[in-house]
Amino acid sequence: MGQWRVAVAGGTGRTGREIVRYLNAEEGIEVVGVVARSLAGQSMSVVLPGLKRHIPIYGDLAELLRIDPPHVLVDFTTPQAAKRHFFMCIERGINPIIGTTGFTDADIAEFAEACAAFKIGAAVIPNFSIGALALRLAAQVVAGMLDDVAVLETYPHSKRDLPSGTSQRLAALLATGGPDNPKAVPIHSVRLDGVLPQQEVRFGGQGEMVAISHLVSDRACFGRGVAMAVKKIAKFPTLIQDLDFFI
Ligand SMILES: NC(=O)c1ccc[n+]([C@@H]2O[C@H](COP(=O)([O-])OP(=O)(O)OC[C@H]3O[C@@H](n4cnc5c(N)ncnc54)[C@H](OP(=O)(O)O)[C@@H]3O)[C@@H](O)[C@H]2O)c1
Repeated sequence: MGQWRVAVAGGTGRTGREIVRYLNAEEGIEVVGVVARSLAGQSMSVVLPGLKRHIPIYGDLAELLRIDPPHVLVDFTTPQAAKRHFFMCIERGINPIIGTTGFTDADIAEFAEACAAFKIGAAVIPNFSIGALALRLAAQVVAGMLDDVAVLETYPHSKRDLPSGTSQRLAALLATGGPDNPKAVPIHSVRLDGVLPQQEVRFGGQGEMVAISHLVSDRACFGRGVAMAVKKIAKFPTLIQDLDFFI
């Protein structure tokens, strides 16, 4: 039995299945179930043929919570489903870790209020990859030296949020001028068939330019950050929006 019992909503999806694969191999973590509508009643080995143990797929989170409640829910679904899952977890003392993107500022404010009211930790993080964290930390160093900055993003058309949650969070963290006189960082978005997801921050100076770029070639890159969050989220009584809290 794992020290951290984890359920994965959207565990049959393109990202979710890589998260299930990663968490299942992680010491101390037990994936107790997956939530997804279309393969409900089946086993995750249908999606991940190499899987050596039975991970049941439930059609609804309520059913999973009734049968085998986890400590943590990881969610890679849609904003509507993830929002519902978030509040179901918070009310039951389960820590939600939401990778789903596409929330409004009002949604994020509601999540933060709920964490404070129930004194429970949750994470809503638009990019769980270590490389994206490295990009952001490097960008914050350069921002102290060159202040003309733009965020660029390239994604396939299947990316639903525009601009991406990652770009929005990067732009918010790199914004200058303070709360009374904020200077927004522009975001330039490209949607094109056949490309790999790429985030870039460019800084302009007098006669020079610095570019810091992050490219995703395999969704397995999101697993490590999710595992770190699973193991540490219970220590926080608030909403966490950045991966560095879990390092
Ligand atoms: N934070 C990060 O690091 C990160 C990285 C990659 C992607 N993402 C985000 O993760 C989300 C998922 O992306 P994806 O490309 O993996 O999507 P996807 O391939 O379409 O997978 C979505 C998954 O959610 C399930 N789902 C959808 N609606 C549901 C509902 N109402 N109840 C239960 N399950 C539901 C789907 O199964 P059924 O349709 O069978 O229900 C499927 O398993 C997006 O918001 C994306 O931007 C975040």
